[in-house]
Amino acid sequence: MFHGTSRVNERGHLEIGGVDTIELAKTYGTPLYVYDVALIRKRARAFKQTFEKHGLRAQVAYASKAFSAIAIVQLMAEEGLSLDVVSGGELYTALKAGFPVERIHFHGNNKSREELEMALRAGIGCIVVDNFYELSLLEQLSREFERKTPILLRVTPGIEAHTHDYILTGQEDSKFGFDLHNGQADEALKQALASPHLQVLGIHCHIGSQIFEATGFVLAAKKLFEKLAAWRDQYRFVAEVVNLGGGFGIRYTSEDDPLAPEQYVEEIIQEVKRDVEMFSLPMPEIWIEPGRSLVGDAGTTIYSIGSRKEVPNIRQYVAVDGGMSDNIRPALYEAKYEAVLANRVLDEKEEVVSIAGKCCESGDMLIWDLPLPKAEAGDYLAVFCTGAYGYAMANNYNRLPRPAVVFVENGEAQLVIRRETYEDLVRLDVPLKTKVNK
Ligand SMILES: Cc1ncc(COP(=O)(O)O)c(C=O)c1O
Repeated sequence: MFHGTSRVNERGHLEIGGVDTIELAKTYGTPLYVYDVALIRKRARAFKQTFEKHGLRAQVAYASKAFSAIAIVQLMAEEGLSLDVVSGGELYTALKAGFPVERIHFHGNNKSREELEMALRAGIGCIVVDNFYELSLLEQLSREFERKTPILLRVTPGIEAHTHDYILTGQEDSKFGFDLHNGQADEALKQALASPHLQVLGIHCHIGSQIFEATGFVLAAKKLFEKLAAWRDQYRFVAEVVNLGGGFGIRYTSEDDPLAPEQYVEEIIQEVKRDVEMFSLPMPEIWIEPGRSLVGDAGTTIYSIGSRKEVPNIRQYVAVDGGMSDNIRPALYEAKYEAVLANRVLDEKEEVVSIAGKCCESGDMLIWDLPLPKAEAGDYLAVFCTGAYGYAMANNYNRLPRPAVVFVENGEAQLVIRRETYEDLVRLDVPLKTKVNK
């Protein structure tokens, strides 16, 4: 259940990065996201060093949709990672953070003209082209900007992977990318190669999320290389880059059993080596795009416990001061989490309770049937593994201000996103024009 530097200190409190989480809660208030910076660095290095060990050219791009903020983007830059953005907002954040623009890759199935212009103006490293509309828009804009824009073509390889399952779909029913099998991908390549304003670096696919086994990535790589061999023969096109996307799983609960980052990368590398040899292709640069697996288990949310409700012989509800406004994943995907009382971690577990959020929505439940010590108002609950798609999906439902975020490392805490105030909540509101009484 404990990840990274999390441990119980001599006061029986949960400590992360050498900092007492109860002290953090008292200083910064709750709900509070706490990120274990050492764990993020460890994960980043694990992905990167596995490629380095094999002497392969590679880019590990942090998929910033998992958690986009200036500080996390800067941390990824410090670790020498690349960055994947999916919107003008994520790109803006990256540019504000001073992230090296040549290592930013722009994704998305409906990038607007303004977003593409912003990317070209910034001199973006690569645009992952998703569809024919974007291909012609980008060609036109690149001509106007007098640029040769580096692109990858996103394809759907007909593999859908999730946790232990992968499905071979042949033709994939997905809103993303060019279909690899029905001629769309070939047509996209032909169009892109015909343009003097586009430089096709290679091919991209992303097969799913929270994937526990390497089989899906291995099959996807095989399909991409089969296509690349055909493209070499048909169009004399040789890819410099093969991007296999993200989706590497993490351990939310003790029932989850993902591979370590090194193991995913190792199996991908073995498959790429086999394919390159089989099809006599030059070794391309391999790109991957982990999001969740870089930041997910490094994040913990600390809540204050408030009210309780007993439904006799059925359930004890224990409510916290956040909920679907700071973590919508349980309501959206029935995502499971584990938690402890952060101020009494070692106390005996005396009851099984269900953790309710404070939003006016029956579905606002964070955890069902959690064994805990007898929890009372004023206790603190720490929910583990909230670092990915937590703050990123946070919202102001019921006009709850979004929580603060702190980074902890080597006994020190740094506030990286301040808590929203009520004033922030009405910042964009425009009052009715005052009526002049005649
Ligand atoms: C294209 C692409 N790359 C990377 C990711 C990151 O996935 P994960 O956070 O599961 O690693 C996603 C997630 O949706 C994605 O769509």
